[in-house]
Amino acid sequence: MAPSPEFTSTAFRHFDLTELPNTARYKLLTATVVPRPIAWVCTLGEGDVPNLAPYSFFGLMGSDPPIVTFAPGDRADGTPKDTALNIVPGGEFSVNLVSAALAQVMSDTATDFPHGVAEVTQLGIELEPGVRIAVPRVRASPATLECVEVQTLQIGKTRIILGEVIGLSLRADAVLDEERHYIDTATLDLIGRMGGRGDYTRTRDGFEIARMTYAQWQEREGSQG
Ligand SMILES: Cc1cc2nc3c(=O)[nH]c(=O)nc-3n(C[C@H](O)[C@H](O)[C@H](O)COP(=O)(O)O)c2cc1C
Repeated sequence: MAPSPEFTSTAFRHFDLTELPNTARYKLLTATVVPRPIAWVCTLGEGDVPNLAPYSFFGLMGSDPPIVTFAPGDRADGTPKDTALNIVPGGEFSVNLVSAALAQVMSDTATDFPHGVAEVTQLGIELEPGVRIAVPRVRASPATLECVEVQTLQIGKTRIILGEVIGLSLRADAVLDEERHYIDTATLDLIGRMGGRGDYTRTRDGFEIARMTYAQWQEREGSQG
């Protein structure tokens, strides 16, 4: 018999999220569902002024087609965030992934600059043109996903933006084998978000588990019996 995972805690606390205010739900869930990757989303606003903001309600939802999703919640005054306003149906955006070296400046872009003030100019962030989209990428980001909006769901005060990834730019020294598409993820040195405040984690402390087939599982069980 395969060993059971060992539980060191026998007591659990249950929280009824339907009875709790949003501040409590946010604290509980963001401290529990970790680590979360960070989408540093660039869009073009009025007059093609670039807008850049981090979103950690973010995930990769498949590869066929390649879909990413992220979720801007409305501001406290009920207005949508600039990123949500800028992404029109079928519109383009770039998702720049965040390395440890970019952590501080990424966090700075979440400052509540007034509408129309470009974070990239205020913070001196260099952009460069996108390859397949008109929206630029963050030059110092180790990886950029070029995306086109396919659907936006509005559920309560949250917009869930789904985008198809049509291009991926990776820093060259992370590409181990271009033909066979092998990437050294550790070279990207990405960070993830822990909790809802200023807590982050690095991603270089990885480990590997080999997947097995059913036949291999039978063989393993047999050899232990
Ligand atoms: C690491 C990090 C992750 C964040 N994730 C989210 C998120 O998933 N959803 C959200 O609405 N705001 C999130 N924020 C806050 C926004 O980045 C912030 O409100 C920002 O000013 C929005 O900018 P915009 O109006 O230019 O889109 C996050 C902030 C940080 C620092």
